[in-house]
Amino acid sequence: MRIGMIGGGGVGQTLGAALIAKGHEVVIGIRNPSAEELAKPRAQAEPLAEWVAKTGGKVGTFAEAAASGEVVFNVTQGAHSLEALQAAGAANLSGKVLIDVANPLDFSAGMPPFLNPAFTGATSLGEQIQAAFPEAKVVKAFNTVAAAVMVTPGLIPGDHDLFVSGNDGAAKEAVKDIARGFGWTSFADLGDLVGARAQEAVLPVWVRLWMTGGTHLVNLKVVRA
Ligand SMILES: NC(=O)c1ccc[n+]([C@@H]2O[C@H](COP(=O)([O-])OP(=O)(O)OC[C@H]3O[C@@H](n4cnc5c(N)ncnc54)[C@H](OP(=O)(O)O)[C@@H]3O)[C@@H](O)[C@H]2O)c1
Repeated sequence: MRIGMIGGGGVGQTLGAALIAKGHEVVIGIRNPSAEELAKPRAQAEPLAEWVAKTGGKVGTFAEAAASGEVVFNVTQGAHSLEALQAAGAANLSGKVLIDVANPLDFSAGMPPFLNPAFTGATSLGEQIQAAFPEAKVVKAFNTVAAAVMVTPGLIPGDHDLFVSGNDGAAKEAVKDIARGFGWTSFADLGDLVGARAQEAVLPVWVRLWMTGGTHLVNLKVVRA
């Protein structure tokens, strides 16, 4: 499958490399895909030129990545996701599964980050993306685990859940299939995209678990009677 990866940080690079290893074609989109920009060190990720050399993937603009993908991931900083996706172009997202991995976290006060109020209450980043791109099939997924765990859930022993929500049942199943390809076996399906409010609200809990437990290899498991 052809995958458009909107964002070239640690998450985009990790998901992209894992998808390429499974035989998919990946184009990562960033704002300015110049040779100089690709050579630059990135926060908590390698220079994209190294990612290209290692994986055989491609890097282009947000619009080029979105246009190339049959499925598109949003792996941009949550506060900037709407503008990044506008640059990607509504026509390039129309009719496609758009997997929203982003979290609207505000690090302006340091650690721990807090949820940006513009995306809380009776809304969420996932819902705002769906409202801005009504022709895309937005599925919120992968946002509640660390990048390494997204593609290798076995890094955490035992049974644990991947949260998903979205308005289109078939799109959600397609995303679960991608996740199964990474080894995920257990899903906490929160229903339609209103579930994105809950998925994004997991982050303050997840960050505290990380800080107090001393490892980012941590996730949640839903248990019912
Ligand atoms: N890190 C994790 O393990 C993890 C886990 C779960 C969810 N997430 C979420 O996944 C997303 C990606 O995480 P990351 O660590 O890979 O992010 P990142 O490196 O901080 O940024 C990813 C992308 O955001 C774009 N971006 C930043 N500012 C922008 C702006 N003003 N306008 C347009 N685009 C902008 C960057 O574009 P340029 O390349 O052009 O600079 C970059 O490609 C975040 O929303 C994060 O909360 C992260």
